[in-house]
Amino acid sequence: MDQPLKNWTVFSDEQSPPEQLSEPPRRPKWTDTLAYIADPDQFCRHNLAQYGPVFKTSVFGGTTVFVGSAEAIQMTFNGDADYTEIGLPATTMDMFGEFSLFQRPDLHRQRKSAVRPAFSGNMLADYCAKIHPLLTEHLQSWDASQPIALTPLLEDFVFDLLVLQLLGIPLSQGDVALTGLPISTKAELKRQYQTFFDGFYGLVKWQSPLTTFGRGKRARAKLIDFMRALIQQRRQTPLEPATDFLSMMLASQQENPDSVFSDDLIENQCLLQLWASHYEVSILLSSWMYQLGQYPQCIKQVRAEQVAVLGKEEHLEALSMEQLKPLMFLDATIKETLRLLPPSSTATRKLTKSVALDGVLFKAGWNVIAEPRIAHAIEAYFANPDQFKPERFLPEQGEGRMYEFIPFGGGVHACLGAQLAIATAKIFILHLLQRFDWDLMGDADFIQFPLKRIKSNYRIKLQAREEVTCL
Ligand code: HEM
Repeated sequence: MDQPLKNWTVFSDEQSPPEQLSEPPRRPKWTDTLAYIADPDQFCRHNLAQYGPVFKTSVFGGTTVFVGSAEAIQMTFNGDADYTEIGLPATTMDMFGEFSLFQRPDLHRQRKSAVRPAFSGNMLADYCAKIHPLLTEHLQSWDASQPIALTPLLEDFVFDLLVLQLLGIPLSQGDVALTGLPISTKAELKRQYQTFFDGFYGLVKWQSPLTTFGRGKRARAKLIDFMRALIQQRRQTPLEPATDFLSMMLASQQENPDSVFSDDLIENQCLLQLWASHYEVSILLSSWMYQLGQYPQCIKQVRAEQVAVLGKEEHLEALSMEQLKPLMFLDATIKETLRLLPPSSTATRKLTKSVALDGVLFKAGWNVIAEPRIAHAIEAYFANPDQFKPERFLPEQGEGRMYEFIPFGGGVHACLGAQLAIATAKIFILHLLQRFDWDLMGDADFIQFPLKRIKSNYRIKLQAREEVTCL
């Protein structure tokens, strides 16, 4: 894919930007944060229509420029270590802790390169192999005799899956898998994660059991204790071959005690990767089922492609990553789901220097948010952007170019788990389509912020297919 040319100018601290530059349109309003949190889609769509794809707001305080044009997104994603830094509030950084990928720009590259092997190549293939038995077990327990709540079911599957892939704990065996650890039931582990997650978004940043933030910090401490005990437990068994994220880090540490993998880094990475992934992936699966439930013709196409590429008798348990590649229409349905229902915006960047782009000045000190909700709704990038049309992502139509399609962000902070998320979705869908058809029960209500997801009480009706087949 061709990368657009860079066409912005960065001003050093001593340089004053030329006077003829204009600022992005729109006067920030004090109500912006509330309006954005209440409905980020509506906020972005409304301002896109009124001001175009780049506009000023006061979201999260100060001046925050929302950007949705490919040029401005490219400028935003390319600034790390030169003219941008991560611009999250101090309390959010406190929840991440000093061993996150966001906290130390000087160590970001080194830490990310060290953990990346766990999310690519052979390890990614191993993770995918782990999905089949667990997924079969979950799907077998889905009850087609009555309407089922979609979100809790998928959250449960994805939690079991990621705890296995990242921490090596087989939660499907029941609470016995947590024996000897300070959190001894799956229900409690999930609850602590929910409390930790909510803590990031508490409005009152006061460390007290009375506040969401305070409870989040306590959950963080409990989860870190859990990870620490897990590391001690894991050291008592052989680490090779490393088939989960934790054992990969421990094996690296054993091989090279001077590597970045201190115990602190390992326990925090275990905490944070699961935090970063389990809601996002379950949202992708539930949004896919919801979107495709409205387009039975697309489901037929996915099934037809599955038969054409993999054959009628394909045993999914033996499916490899290579075999997933030619399933282009399946891939397109996942991308179209992420285009219309991106779970989140990207991380806020703060400009450390002023930048001019196409005659518009972005001032040092301002925050910038690259918003998929704007980029994905631009007619010039996506024809009839409100329509669900997976074909747009097929190579012949070629929509979804770099900096125009950004559900996983971009630049040096681009999502580490994008490949894992997409592969998981593909395998999930292939198994699902073999076993079930489903009917939606009306329109779903969504929680809008911090992640856009279908509310937990939304139900669908499953129908078990006569025989387990993709036809
Ligand atoms: C559908 C699933 C997912 C979506 C939509 C998603 C989305 C995102 C987005 C928007 C960002 C911010 C990127 C930026 O600001 O440029 C991000 C960062 C990140 N994601 Fe994901 N994510 C998903 C799954 C995962 C998974 C499965 C993992 C790991 C197991 C993961 C780990 C991370 C990490 C570590 C970062 C920070 C990277 C850095 O700062 O260098 N994500 N993700």
